[in-house]
Parts: sequence; structure tokens; C-alpha cells
Amino acid sequence: MLDGTVITCSAPVNIAVIKYWGKRDDELILPVNSSLSVTLHQDQLKTTTTIACSRDFQEDRIWINGREEDINQSRLQSCLREMRRLARKRSGDGDPAHGVAGLSHKVHICSVNNFPTAAGLASSASGYACLVYTLSRLFGVEGELSAVARQGSGSACRSMYGGFVQWKIGERADGKDSLAEQVQPETHWPELRVLVLVVNAQRKHIGSTSGMQTSVKTSSLLKHRAECLVSGQMDKMMRAINTKDFSAFGELTMQDSNQFHATCLDTYPPIFYLSDVSRQIINLVHCYNHHYREIKVAYTFDAGPNAVIFTLQEHLPEFVQVVRYFFPPESNEEQFLKGLSVDSVPVSESLKAAIGMEPVANGISYIISTKAGPGPCMMNDPDLHLLGLDGLPK
Ligand code: DP6
Repeated sequence: MLDGTVITCSAPVNIAVIKYWGKRDDELILPVNSSLSVTLHQDQLKTTTTIACSRDFQEDRIWINGREEDINQSRLQSCLREMRRLARKRSGDGDPAHGVAGLSHKVHICSVNNFPTAAGLASSASGYACLVYTLSRLFGVEGELSAVARQGSGSACRSMYGGFVQWKIGERADGKDSLAEQVQPETHWPELRVLVLVVNAQRKHIGSTSGMQTSVKTSSLLKHRAECLVSGQMDKMMRAINTKDFSAFGELTMQDSNQFHATCLDTYPPIFYLSDVSRQIINLVHCYNHHYREIKVAYTFDAGPNAVIFTLQEHLPEFVQVVRYFFPPESNEEQFLKGLSVDSVPVSESLKAAIGMEPVANGISYIISTKAGPGPCMMNDPDLHLLGLDGLPK
């Protein structure tokens, strides 16, 4: 029977529009350049984590998506150690309200995603952000926590905030100034929409951690990008976001994604994350924008073939139809679009001709339609706890 505290929280996924690629310190996870992302809405994409502490627990344990995993993984240990250290510091401040009962107890951690792991969407960002946020609530630790989440996975530090978030490179060797910071809240640009095009892919990809290690070792283009290009791109991107200039935002987003994939190609041996379907999507987006002589949609790709599309609400219905026309789903048509609903509109023959590609059946498995959303939050309903009274997954 649980005698200690149980806390459940959720945290969002984020998608970088200025990419983080490369570490200057692998242990502390310090990047070679600043990065900037949009936090996606948790209604569509989130991790939920329950953490319980009890004097009855013999050891720390963790279950992820229904399977027990090794709690001794170094990045998990870094986050646990850091959060316990911060809690101890706070409980030792002399204020009896800050005494943390569970600090000497072991924890059980249970974590699930509301999106399929098989979709190939990076879950480490939402996963570590959720772990750190939930531990902070359990131990009563307040304040800046992105530096702890960063030590789980670099991109996780940006999932500690909602809206538009930058991760500042920082200068210090101890990483204390390599932190995430909100640029604008999720309410800033309500017309902005996000589509995740989940590309049909069988192949297993090189993980970002080892991929970026090889890039740092071998790519002179990555060095040039980090030293000479990103800081200017960050300034322009922040201006585009602050002024809600979609055309500038879209162009910078596509250029940065292409530059990131160029550094992957410049890595030796080269790393290929984009598939044929990814390249067809890139081509489709450029033809679509060219047809209208305006940047109406923009793509970005991480360490895998899935595309993330940014557009404005007014362009969304037509663009979804265009994707459906050129990447016709083979079956379960009604399951093709998940998330925020989109009106159905016809696609003109002139637009189809302007795109001019052969339809690729089943190239895209499904689309998740979403928007910018808030940062981590605590859930107060005990029914939502993922651990039962016995301290094991329900
Ligand atoms: C391409 O944060 O997954 O998504 O710090 O080694 O855990 P580690 O890497 P991770 O890398 C993310 C790389 C990226 C770009 C980005 O999100 O900025």
C-alpha cells in the first residue's frame, strides 16, 4: 500500500525551427549552437508521467510505455541525482515547510506517450521534460529546471516551456547558463498551424546522439554553421516570430532544416535522414508556394523522414487536400487525419498541374493536425495516476 506522495504531470513535444545538432560537452549536454522551437499542443502529442515515493519501495524503478526499463541509464540517473540534490538544498534552508518527507524514499516512475512510438516521433524531449517536471512537483523544487531536463536530452530543455522557446547556448563550462527561455507564449500566434506528416518508413535510423557525435567529429560545415551562421539565423527567426511574419518564419524554417540535413550529408560517413517521400514533400511544398508566389507552407525535418509542416489556419484545408491527393492513403481513409479537424475543400486542376507529380500511394501513413501549446502541467485527478495503490503500473 502506498504511504507516500503520488504526482502525475504531462509535458509536450517540441519541434525545432533552428536545429540543435552537436554537443561541445557530451556529459552535461551543452550544444555547439543555440536553437529555437515551437512547443506542440498536448491534446495531440504529450508524455504523461506518474511518480510515487514510498518507504516500502526497495529501489528506484521506471516503466515506459508499459515496459520496465533500466533505471541505471546514465541520463536518467543524472536527472534523478540533480533533482534530489535541489530538493535537499531546499529542505536544508531551515524553513520547516520545505522539509521533504519522500527524499529518503525510493521512487517508482511510470510514463506513457499519447502517440505511437512506432510513428518515429522523438519522445525523449517530452519524456525527460515530464520526468523532471513531475520530480519537481514531488520534491517541491521550484525555479529554473531546464538545465536539469537538458541533461536528460538536449531538446528536452525546450519542452519545459510552452509557445516559442529558445535554448541559449551559454558560455560557462558548467552549463549553468545553457538554458531554455520562452520567446513568446502559445497564445501569441493563434493562426499558426502544425501538421505532422508521418511518413511510411521501415528503416531504423541513426539516433540523434550518435549522429551528432559523428557530425561534430567530421563535418566542417557543422563547425561553420555553429560558429558563423546560427546566431544570425536566431536573430532573424525571433524577429519573424515576434512580428508574426509567416513568410520570413517559413523561409527561415525551411532553410535551417535544409542546412541541418546538409551537415548530415557532410558528416563522414554521411547520414541520411530524409527518404524519397521526404524529398517529394519538400518538392510539393516549394511547387505549392511557387504557384501562389507566396510562402504559405513550410517544412522541417528532424532525425527521421517525417515532415512537420507549418502553415496558417486559412491555408490549412487546401493544403491537407493537396497532401491527400498526392499521397493517397490505401485504406482507413477516415483515420488519415488525426487531431484538430480541417474543413474539406476542392483542389483546383491548375494547382494539381503546378505541383505536377505522380501520386504516391501510401507514402504518408497519417497526418497529426495540431498547433502551438502550453508547457508541462500537473494533473489533479487521482484517476489519471498511472500507478496503482500497490505502486505498480495500473
Ligand atoms: C534533430 O535532443 O534527441 O531533433 O541531446 O543527444 O538527446 P540528445 O539529442 P536530441 O537531439 C535533437 C536533434 C533534432 C534537432 C532539435 O530538436 O533541435
